[in-house]
Amino acid sequence: MIEPSFPWERPLVRFVEGKMRGSPPSHDFSHVKRVVRLCEVIRREEGGDAEVLRAAAWLHDVGRPVEERTGEDHAKVGAEIAEEILPEVGFPEGKVGEVVHAIEAHRYSTGPNPETLEAMILQDADNLDAMGAIGVARCFCVVGERRTTLEDGVRHFHEKLLRLSDLMHTGTGRRIAERRRKKMIRFLEWLEAETDGELGVGRPRG
Ligand SMILES: [Fe+2]
Ligand SMILES: [Fe+2]
Repeated sequence: MIEPSFPWERPLVRFVEGKMRGSPPSHDFSHVKRVVRLCEVIRREEGGDAEVLRAAAWLHDVGRPVEERTGEDHAKVGAEIAEEILPEVGFPEGKVGEVVHAIEAHRYSTGPNPETLEAMILQDADNLDAMGAIGVARCFCVVGERRTTLEDGVRHFHEKLLRLSDLMHTGTGRRIAERRRKKMIRFLEWLEAETDGELGVGRPRG
């Protein structure tokens, strides 16, 4: 459990947990908790407003269940939900706009580019959770959820996941991303060797 740092945090976490109940394992509440933690790790090195970042991290994927149902962009939906819920839980009004921007900008494929340090940290943290051992686990969760194939999963590493380290905004994000990237490469070598018929009793190369 992540200890709440702010008085508004407990009711907000309860709200988000409720909204995300029943989400598929690739994008469930445990992903949100890992992103909150990663944001904290990066912020300690890079600075940034802890309150803005905490709220943005908790809420960044709260629009996902709506996207699953309607196809609407979850970053946009999440930003709208944030505007409504934050004043209700007593979040400082003057900071709502910064939270909304970070949520709107958290996807690198859609929405505006992250313009504030907090928005950059959130995008770094969200992308880091798609890398390393967690990235491997989540990638194959998506394969199961979409009923595609292991080959599609492997293609996703090459087309997207191995490239995420180039998209990092912060130095701390880049350092963690490089470590996680190396782990994914070792995993892919291991997978390839076993796919080619190796017995799987040795250690992965590298
Ligand atoms: Fe997202
Ligand atoms: Fe996310």
